[in-house]
Amino acid sequence: MKTILLTGAGGFVGARIALHLKDRYKLITFPKGMLASADPEAVYAFAMEQKPDAIIHTAAIADIGDCEKDPEASYRANVLLTVALCRAAQDLGVKIVCYSSDQVYTGCDPKDGPYREDIPLSPANVYARHKLEAEQRGLAVCPDAVMLRATWMYDLPGDSLPIRGNMVCNLLSQAQENRTERFSTTDLRGITYVRQVAELTEKALRLPGGVYNFGSPNDRNMYDTAIAALRALGLPGELAQPDDSRPARCLAMNPDKLRSFGLVFDDTADGFERCVQAAAGYCKD
Ligand SMILES: NC(=O)c1ccc[n+]([C@@H]2O[C@H](COP(=O)([O-])OP(=O)(O)OC[C@H]3O[C@@H](n4cnc5c(N)ncnc54)[C@H](OP(=O)(O)O)[C@@H]3O)[C@@H](O)[C@H]2O)c1
Repeated sequence: MKTILLTGAGGFVGARIALHLKDRYKLITFPKGMLASADPEAVYAFAMEQKPDAIIHTAAIADIGDCEKDPEASYRANVLLTVALCRAAQDLGVKIVCYSSDQVYTGCDPKDGPYREDIPLSPANVYARHKLEAEQRGLAVCPDAVMLRATWMYDLPGDSLPIRGNMVCNLLSQAQENRTERFSTTDLRGITYVRQVAELTEKALRLPGGVYNFGSPNDRNMYDTAIAALRALGLPGELAQPDDSRPARCLAMNPDKLRSFGLVFDDTADGFERCVQAAAGYCKD
């Protein structure tokens, strides 16, 4: 059985990747809390000692606000740990897949979206700048590394897995509280079912080195996206109201590069349907 060193196994994405891989790979994880504080050299040394057959790196400070508040901590977590693990992958001669973010496209002109991977970037927040630097420096030390630009992701609670703020849970809370919410008609972004992300992460281990847009495409604005999610959840569309007042924004990504390697995500609206059907089997009441 091949071994995979998985970082962030206690996180939203990592826990679902672990669940998806657990019967077919021997998973190695970092001692609890180590990634949150260890020196990057210690992280490199741990990876070298374990001699995995591949590395999947999801650990990060993934909250944009936290990164703004503490850029130094963000730099250690998001850039230096990624570089250390890419160096270990290069020295071990194994594949590494690292999580980046569609936030790298903040700062792009919405008229240029959905964006291809090679568009010039000028990220507009600390988290996004650090994710971009992690991609660049990671690839410089390990040209075979695979950098996945993920979208905002979601799941419903279940399977005793960690959950974090996401669109479908937000809509369910709104319904429980009978509260309407306004959604921008000028904001475009893909939103992705995290369990499909976990499945395709395994396939991403076979991609050539480089940067990939990695998530559901979406040609709907956030208001229409909320309507599609409410429909999938069987909730009334009136819970979402259109907001035409916000500045235009686009984080939507062009999926062609990933598709050319046979990795295809559902469209965002279809992903909601997939989630609701699958969650019937694992979701809490
Ligand atoms: N969630 C999203 O919607 C989203 C969207 C775009 C991109 N991403 C990217 O996807 C990856 C996974 O995100 P996620 O939502 O699973 O994040 P998460 O739930 O916050 O989990 C991140 C994991 O990182 C580790 N960690 C926590 N604090 C850390 C620190 N200070 N330094 C280093 N590691 C630390 C922990 O791993 P252990 O539990 O192993 O200790 C934690 O479980 C990240 O790279 C994130 O930037 C996420």
